[in-house]
Amino acid sequence: MLTDIETVLIPRQRIAHRLKELSAQIARDLDDLPDEAEIVLVPILTGSIIFLADLIRQLPQKIRIEVVTVAGYPGKSMTSRGPQIIGALPDDLKDKHVLIVDDILDSGGTLRLIREKLASRQPKSLRACVLLRKQRQSALDTPCEYVGFDIPDVFVVGYGLDYNNYYRNLPDIGTLRKEAL
Ligand code: XMP
Repeated sequence: MLTDIETVLIPRQRIAHRLKELSAQIARDLDDLPDEAEIVLVPILTGSIIFLADLIRQLPQKIRIEVVTVAGYPGKSMTSRGPQIIGALPDDLKDKHVLIVDDILDSGGTLRLIREKLASRQPKSLRACVLLRKQRQSALDTPCEYVGFDIPDVFVVGYGLDYNNYYRNLPDIGTLRKEAL
């Protein structure tokens, strides 16, 4: 599997280091909320699983987790067909402080859609956190409060990100060789 990787863009040590900074920033902001504030993290499956697992263990607050499943890359595709929500969205978000967690901000379609849907549930606050943001205009134009890394506009796998549902278990983030596609 490792031989399918062309370039390691972000090695595991850098991910771990940046996660410490990012989670500290998020934890500080959550600490500023009043004592009675209820916090709900909404991870977008499946790509965010590893990021989520590492992030939440560095947040000392009392938090609830409500997942959302979105499909955007059917089959072996590398181009999104547009995000589709699978199943129900969390509905008990009124007056809660909600943080959306996703793996990557690419076209921005997924985050915009989820933000709009969750906003209709009248949370007290609604923020978003992504591990990666591609350097393309539509990603930069999409509101997102917390960003782990800005990366070039290339297709990446590893640390939860997949191609055809493979490579999520790679500890580093990298690009794939043409032969693996
Ligand atoms: P959009 O375009 O809606 O994309 O911002 C967000 C979702 O699309 C997936 N995605 C990727 N998955 N490598 C991947 O493995 C990529 O380079 C990539 N770009 C987008 C991802 O699931 C993300 O949540």
